[in-house]
Parts: sequence; C-alpha cells; structure tokens
Amino acid sequence: MPQGKKIIVGITGSIAAYKTVFLVRELVKQGAEVKVILTPAARDFVSPLTLATLSRNPVLSGLFDEQGWSNHVMLGRWADVFLVAPLSCNTMAKMAQGACDNLLLAVYLSATCPVVLAPAMDEDMWQHPSTRANLARLGSFGHKIIPVGSGDLASGLTGEGRMAEPAQIIDYLRQYIFKQGPLQGKKALVTAGPTYEPIDPVRFIGNHSSGKMGIAIAEELQRRGASVTLVLGPSGTDILLPGVETIRVQTAAEMYKACQERFPASDIGVMAAAVADYTPVVTADRKIKKTVGSFSIDLKKTTDILKSLGETKRDNQVLLGFALETDNEKMNAREKLEKKNADLIVLNSLKDPGAGFGKDTNKITIFTRDGREFPFETKSKKEVAADIVDTLIRLHYA
Ligand code: CTP
Repeated sequence: MPQGKKIIVGITGSIAAYKTVFLVRELVKQGAEVKVILTPAARDFVSPLTLATLSRNPVLSGLFDEQGWSNHVMLGRWADVFLVAPLSCNTMAKMAQGACDNLLLAVYLSATCPVVLAPAMDEDMWQHPSTRANLARLGSFGHKIIPVGSGDLASGLTGEGRMAEPAQIIDYLRQYIFKQGPLQGKKALVTAGPTYEPIDPVRFIGNHSSGKMGIAIAEELQRRGASVTLVLGPSGTDILLPGVETIRVQTAAEMYKACQERFPASDIGVMAAAVADYTPVVTADRKIKKTVGSFSIDLKKTTDILKSLGETKRDNQVLLGFALETDNEKMNAREKLEKKNADLIVLNSLKDPGAGFGKDTNKITIFTRDGREFPFETKSKKEVAADIVDTLIRLHYA
C-alpha cells in the first residue's frame, strides 16, 4: 500500500484524465499524501475543485497566482514519487526537451524523486517516430514508463495508447517504486505452456496448453512483490510482462535445463507447464517421407521437472505443482503431491465444464502436504491465479 507516501500527481490535457480522478481518490483512500498539479490544458478535462476535494490538498496549476509564487523546487523535493498520468504527447515532448512553460514542467525539472509516466494518446500518435524517440529519451533518464493498454480509444478507433487503469498504476507504484508486497525479496520460478518434442524438422508432439494459467500466476506473484522468472513453452499467447524475466523454450529437455539452473536460487517454484511426458528417441534431421503403409515412432520418457526439483528441494523452498485429472481426481492429486515431494498441488478436473486447456476460466482444488484441501468456484484464470498465490502466502509466508 502507498500508505504514508508523498505523491505528486501531474495531470496533462488528455481525455484519460478522468481516470486519474479515481486514481487520486484511491491513493488517498490507501493512505498516501497526494498533491495534484494540472497543466493549463488539463483544466479543460477535469475540475480543480473535484481534485482538491479528493486529494484534500489545494490543486496547483500556475507558476504564480495572487497568493504568490509556487515553490516548484520545494514541491519537487517534497515528493517520494512524481507521477504524470495521463502523459500527453505534448507534455512528453516538452519533458524530453527540458522545456519549462508551466508548473508541472518546472516541478518535473526540479524533482529529485523517481519519475513515473503513464502515457495516453491515440494509436497513430503513439506509433509516431517522434513519440518513440521522446519516450526512449525519457526512459534513458531513468524514468519509469507504465505500458499503455490496447482497446477503445477516444477517437473511436481501437488500438494501442490507452492509459493504464488506476489499479494497474497503483500496483506499478507498489511494485517498482515502493517495493512492497508480502513476497518482497522472494524469487519465484514459474513454468507455463506446452512443450514441443520434434519428430523431424517439420513435425512435433505437442498439446493444447495455452500457457494462460502459468502466465497469470507469474503476473500475480510479481504483483505481490516477488521477482519472477517465467520459463515459457511455445504457447501462442502473446505476452508482455514488464519486469518478469521470460525464458522461451521449446522442448521438455530445454525446460528442465532452465529450471534446474534457476531453482536452487529460487524461494518458490510453480510448475504449471503441460510438459510432454514422452519425446521421440530419435529426431530425424530430414523430413520423413510417407513411403510405407504404417509407421511408428519410438518414444522415451522425459524428465519429470516437478519431481526432480522436489528431490533437491530445501526446507525453505515452496514447490507447487498441478494435476490435470479425469478420474479418481482427489486420490491422484494426493498421490502426485507425495510422489513429487511438492508442498501444494492444484487439481483441475477435466470433468468440470469450466476447467481445462485454452479456456479463460478454471476450477481448482488446492491440496496441502498436511492433508488439507481448499476447493474454489469456477473463476477467470486471473482470479484463480490470485487464489493460488493467496493460499501460498497464507500457508507459507503469513
Ligand atoms: N510435470 C513436469 N515435468 C514433466 C511432467 C509433468 O514438471 N515431465 C509437472 C507438471 O507441470 C505438473 C505436474 O507435473 O505440475 C503434473 O503433471 P501431470 O502430467 O498431470 O502428471 P504426471 O506425473 O505426468 O502423471 P500422469 O500423466 O500419469 O497423470
């Protein structure tokens, strides 16, 4: 929580400014001390009275007024963080050039605290080479840039350029600036997605895993303060998890190697990948031609990554695995927990209509080593990830 933190929220002239009204209210609710600075253009989008009421502080706008000169240097030094949300194209360009024709820019130039920027603009402006260059320049100053979202834009078009949502901005501040969260200082290793075992240069043995569940868990662990490494199989899911170290692998052997290297330095291991249990004994180096009427491939077992990490697991490490079952679900899940020396097993039953590969929902039961079980309702994979990480924190880090 940003409790007790001093935050300057700079608002520029963009329609996304309405979201910053909610952001200010939430920051204050969570105990932050907030001072709002508006650029002249921002006053057309949001009212100083609303923001003064919500922030419980006078809203600042001009370099001076009848009361006197606004001390921008002291304001810049007062703050623990200077957040500009939304950051318009115009203010971005001025910041990149060091221009100083309003109070927001003067405070920016004299701020000694971290600067966080949440841009907002139409997609064509966002993609323009001058925007790219200005953003790169601001990044090179060490400023943090919160990624824009994709979706409906004020122009009526759809695309990239939406300002991050208030909750995402608060999460970002908590994670990267205030470095808070129950898993702060912990390292987590997560596997996700399928593996592809090559038969020849054009064919492979794979499965339908999308990687969504593991990716959602990686994101959730990071939200709670952990530094996360994600070992991701060849899932089609296009992801961008800022701050998560993502290692792309193809085969079970590559996934095993990546995990074996990283698990000793990890506090938490979450094995959510649907790893192929078998791989071809030989991979043909040329495409196999259809010469004979029947054809078989010799397969050998892959290394069970969860089991092998379980064998070397130290007492201060927590290991979580998944069990995807169709029959005798509970018994099989408990058996896997023991056999693989995991601390927690998350059961997905394929009998549940809301669970399984490629879906956006999942229904799980979590089993613990001391015989407890926690069933959950069908939920979105993001909510399921939050339930899993909550349970892990409650049982191992509370
Ligand atoms: N797993 C793994 N490495 C493998 C196979 C599975 O790390 N080579 C992990 C999965 O990521 C998951 C758990 O083991 O966390 C359970 O996988 P599952 O395939 O359901 O279990 P198996 O032990 O392979 O048993 P079976 O296929 O007989 O159900």
